[in-house]
Amino acid sequence: MPIYLTTPIYYVNDKPHIGHAYTSLATDVLARWHRLAGREVYFLTGTDEHGQKVEKAAQDAGEDPRAFTDRVSQAFRDLTVTMGFSNDAFIRTTEKRHYEACQALWKRLEERGHIYLGAYEGWYAVRDEAFYGPDELTERDGVKYAPSGAPVEWVREPSYFFKLSEWGDKLLEFYEANPDFIAPQSRRNEVISFVKSGLSDLSISRTSFKWGVPVPGDDAHVMYVWLDALTNYITALGYPDPKAENWRFWPANVHVVGKDILRFHAIYWPAFLMAADLLPPARIFAHGWWTNEGQKISKSLGNVIDPVALVEEFGLDPIRYFLLREVPFGQDGDFSRSALVNRLNGELADVLGNLANRTLSLIQRNCEGKLPSLPPVRDMDTTLLAPLDTLVESVDKLLESQEYHIALEEVFRQVRGANGYITVQAPWALKKTDPTRMMEVLRHLHTALRAYATVLQPFMPATMAALLDQLGVPAGSRDLAALATPLPDGIDLPPPSPLFRKIEIAA
Ligand code: MSP
Repeated sequence: MPIYLTTPIYYVNDKPHIGHAYTSLATDVLARWHRLAGREVYFLTGTDEHGQKVEKAAQDAGEDPRAFTDRVSQAFRDLTVTMGFSNDAFIRTTEKRHYEACQALWKRLEERGHIYLGAYEGWYAVRDEAFYGPDELTERDGVKYAPSGAPVEWVREPSYFFKLSEWGDKLLEFYEANPDFIAPQSRRNEVISFVKSGLSDLSISRTSFKWGVPVPGDDAHVMYVWLDALTNYITALGYPDPKAENWRFWPANVHVVGKDILRFHAIYWPAFLMAADLLPPARIFAHGWWTNEGQKISKSLGNVIDPVALVEEFGLDPIRYFLLREVPFGQDGDFSRSALVNRLNGELADVLGNLANRTLSLIQRNCEGKLPSLPPVRDMDTTLLAPLDTLVESVDKLLESQEYHIALEEVFRQVRGANGYITVQAPWALKKTDPTRMMEVLRHLHTALRAYATVLQPFMPATMAALLDQLGVPAGSRDLAALATPLPDGIDLPPPSPLFRKIEIAA
């Protein structure tokens, strides 16, 4: 079964920050895991380039929107490289194929009677590119604000509408029949109660600005940027051509999104798709938001976290590890330097790095750098080896439900157990007293390290590749299935070098 995973497409109003890196990182780990399990994956990310917000950012920069979006979109493409994302494609909503897909979807909805022309009068938040009902707003100093904190403005203009009001019951039935469609559960409940409170028809075109996909047959209107943006997920697979090579990836297995954009993905998107007689995605996972040292992240507070600077300072894999280990996926979390340093020193360097270094240095020194033969398993080895039998299966299950932090906890529980094993077995002391047993212990530790390194590849690709190199695992034997085949006895292992650098904490 092919697997399709997506990130949101990012607004190009500003350069990428930690929130963007986080959503894509979580998707990247899933994509890499499924590939490691031998599944065929299509992993999409990209940029959302139309709408009032982007148009305004271009004006503020004194640039033409095309030149501006070309420039900022490139920064997001560069981020995929900085962060080591393994996306198969990068879509831009300003591409011609995307205009065609949006217009085809529009026509299909229109033909099926789901669109009518009217006039919108109400509140709009440009920052969120969202319409709000008066009951959702709060007022401060004469300015009204959406629940997200974005200021709203009064809009009155001719508009096409999608008959969303007709989809409430069908959506509720759909959520009921597909209990895993919205995750985590708490978010699912929020969406259900929102839908139960009644849906109004949705304005899906704008006439007061031009930066968007023209409505077919009525150039005075451009499409509402969220209809345009959501369509990217099918444009990328070749919609509207049912014979397109990649169309077989639809419906998506998971759209990974932030909690702020769940409503668009869990309500509007399945309604548009069902109205067009297309299958809705299988799952929407809404993750939480990061704060910076306890404070909300915002441009005006000047505390935006730049992922590029973080990677330069700490290295890519430690940051990838920290972001998914520190906070349960789905909950809000706080980014603090002390928490980061504790994880890096206390888990990566002291637990995993140390185990690898001790084991591999002993093999180098005491076994002439050759992998000891596969030994019998004694009772005292089962604490180390028995948990390995279920490692892959449990990580697979946990990633199926996007529980990254528990998956990492599980692996590190085992790595800690292995540290206990090496301390108790003390292979360094066996060199003189029982060299055969020393070889046994080292080979078992090698087996365990190979398993840990293999399953950790999606989280820390470059560092685990280095560890697998040091363990002598050939490039073609690094997938999950290869774990069933032991490495040949006696192969030469390269001299080890430290995997993680310990961070000095400034006083
Ligand atoms: N363009 C829309 C998505 C369209 S998808 C069809 C959009 N773009 S965005 O650039 O504003 O946000 C993209 C993602 O970044 C969202 O998933 C959002 O939750 C995430 N984050 C933005 N700030 C964040 C934090 N402070 N913390 C975690 N993620 C945050 O929305």
